[in-house]
Amino acid sequence: MPEKSKRLLEESRKRRSYRQFLDEPIKRKVIENCILTAATAPSGADKQPWHFCVITDPEMKQKIRTEAEQVEKAFYEKKISEEWQADLEKLNVNYQKPFLTEAPCLIVIFKKFYQITDAGTKNKNYYVTESVGIATGFLINALRNAGCVSLTYTPAPPTFLRTLLDRPAGETAMMILCVGRPDPNYALPVLKKKSLYEIASFF
Ligand SMILES: Cc1cc2nc3c(=O)[nH]c(=O)nc-3n(C[C@H](O)[C@H](O)[C@H](O)COP(=O)(O)O)c2cc1C
Repeated sequence: MPEKSKRLLEESRKRRSYRQFLDEPIKRKVIENCILTAATAPSGADKQPWHFCVITDPEMKQKIRTEAEQVEKAFYEKKISEEWQADLEKLNVNYQKPFLTEAPCLIVIFKKFYQITDAGTKNKNYYVTESVGIATGFLINALRNAGCVSLTYTPAPPTFLRTLLDRPAGETAMMILCVGRPDPNYALPVLKKKSLYEIASFF
């Protein structure tokens, strides 16, 4: 029905990434329901190749921030290209990541390339990045539906997350979703979304 799809479109247009959050906890049950919603996503051969680590402990958030800022400093000082730097200008971001300790909840999303069976052999997953990307989209929308905002944050490389969170071999952290209530004082970057005819062709 066009009316129903238009209502969702109008609602979805309000979604923005926030890098500042209110100092208000998010109920555990809300996070659990949103993760279960993410897990309804389709996945290659239904292997459900995802794992979600939920972090509300201030000490663990600080550890993640410290390690993330280290890799970000190296990225901004040595690895970033001029083109990438120019693309980031409108977002007003730098190597400092205060939202990692300020957001009441971090969800670190791991993609699982394989799991070890009871017999000790590797059991492979398929289309892992695609499947976890779809599940992450479901999660972002579920959180928004629950009145939360989020930031998709991708430290590069993300290897420290597997060590800090004690995840097994076969898993790689894909991103950190920083979740909370929106700080109304955050100056949202002014962005323009592409028009329908820039992003779609009809045959
Ligand atoms: C895969 C992915 C990686 C991203 N990585 C970062 C990041 O590392 N740091 C950050 O501040 N924002 C990051 N973002 C957020 C984007 O900058 C943001 O979605 C984009 O500027 C559009 O803004 P909007 O979400 O408010 O529409 C990422 C988004 C995606 C989808």
